[in-house]
Amino acid sequence: MNLGYRLAYRLGFTPWENAGRSIFAEQLRHLLDEVAAPGDAAKAKALDLGCGTGDHSIELAIRGWSVTAVDSVPLAIERARAKLPVAGADVTFVLGDVTNLPAYVDHAYTLALDVGCFHGLADEQRIAYGTGLTAVTEPGAVFLMFSFSPGHRGPLPRGASRADVERALDGWTIVGDDAMDTSGAPGILAKAEPRFFRLVRD
Ligand SMILES: C[S@@+](CC[C@H](N)C(=O)[O-])C[C@H]1O[C@@H](n2cnc3c(N)ncnc32)[C@H](O)[C@@H]1O
Repeated sequence: MNLGYRLAYRLGFTPWENAGRSIFAEQLRHLLDEVAAPGDAAKAKALDLGCGTGDHSIELAIRGWSVTAVDSVPLAIERARAKLPVAGADVTFVLGDVTNLPAYVDHAYTLALDVGCFHGLADEQRIAYGTGLTAVTEPGAVFLMFSFSPGHRGPLPRGASRADVERALDGWTIVGDDAMDTSGAPGILAKAEPRFFRLVRD
């Protein structure tokens, strides 16, 4: 299961951790700035779905969220956990499947983040993902999702359209749909026309 990503982490071929990271990190930070900060509710809970080696999870934890982060590749979770002492952050990294979230995480999350996971899933996986996410989040929860636009671009994830997102996230409303600034991005990434969707749970 998830052999492509397992192999990618094993071989150290994880382009999303370098090319994309530096280009989009600033834009992601702005989006996170706009989400209500956890503030006094120091226990406000956030999920990072398909967290990889955890950089975004750690960013959320540093912002004050109580973070649970899920990925299905053992090596990614191992590397994510190893970053915690260095970062001085606390994140619960869970080896699990985002298409069956209630089996791996608790509930009452008010923020969810997905940077590059949903857009690679098959249709039926997306539906299961959406159902699980609804089950573990609170009404009014915010969901930020980075996604390529749909299209076939060799080895890149197939991407997701606004309609694809709406279909899988029944009970959520898209309140933001922002094209990412790809200036300076490698051509293959720019052609994927990445977007950030922002949704709110009804
Ligand atoms: C493009 S990477 C992005 C990783 C991380 N969000 C980042 O930005 O560095 C996509 C991640 O989704 C994970 N993934 C894919 N399908 C998954 C599934 N069904 N359950 C959990 N994680 C999954 C992969 O293992 C991979 O780490």
